Amino acid sequence: MKLIFLGPPGAGKGTQADKVCGYHGIAHISTGEMLRGEIREGTELGMEAKDYIEKGELVPDEVIIGMVEHRIHAQDCAKGFLLDGFPRTVAQADAFQHISDIDMVINIDVPAARLIDRIGGRRMCSGCGVGYHTSTYAGNTCERCGAKLFIRDDDKPETVKNRILVYERLTQPLIAYYEKMGKLQTVNGDETPAEVTADILALTEKLV
Ligand code: AP5
Ligand code: MG
Repeated sequence: MKLIFLGPPGAGKGTQADKVCGYHGIAHISTGEMLRGEIREGTELGMEAKDYIEKGELVPDEVIIGMVEHRIHAQDCAKGFLLDGFPRTVAQADAFQHISDIDMVINIDVPAARLIDRIGGRRMCSGCGVGYHTSTYAGNTCERCGAKLFIRDDDKPETVKNRILVYERLTQPLIAYYEKMGKLQTVNGDETPAEVTADILALTEKLV
């Protein structure tokens, strides 16, 4: 099963990917998580990506395309994968057409007004990468693995505003792109996380 999640920053892509990948036994490929991992390890790629991420800009297409092409051939992708945060530009989507086929693109639709609050209250686990929100969890450590929670560097209000603008300018056109290809499904992301998961699984079950 090969899936893509589309959606603005804070739409719940990571939250839903965690559930959907666990359910179907497919690999969760978050380009944002991969880049943050490269930054933590201080690699050349990480150093190149850091400035873009801190400004809320996109990392250059050629860097990302090479990274994803390599990643989807890893052992854990044998049963399939879910791309979370890729593609993000038409150039990335065009390049991916030559790399792999795709079964379904799921657009998680959330009103713009909701996004700032979602990102403002987000806490991430430094161990397993699972996300929390301060409105539903007040702890400082992960319920799943016990590691410390942290606030992402690019979750500052001014960076978030730019990320949303960049999404509208460069990524939103992919909705029409995949609609034209007959691959697009849209779910209402403005429900509880469990309801959104149920809606997504109702779509992906048809692919099994
Ligand atoms: P990336 O890490 O992909 O960030 P993003 O797309 O901005 O999305 P987020 O991770 O912020 O949001 P999400 O949709 O995953 O929401 P979440 O589930 O956490 O990218 C970061 C940066 O890396 C980019 O800006 C760019 O610089 C670079 N990059 C990455 N990929 C790239 C690419 N392909 N090309 C170029 N550059 C790239 O949820 C958010 C919060 O809401 C959480 O607190 C969660 O608990 C809560 N929540 C989730 N669902 C619900 C719900 N249904 N109801 C209430 N609260 C909810
Ligand atoms: Mg995410």
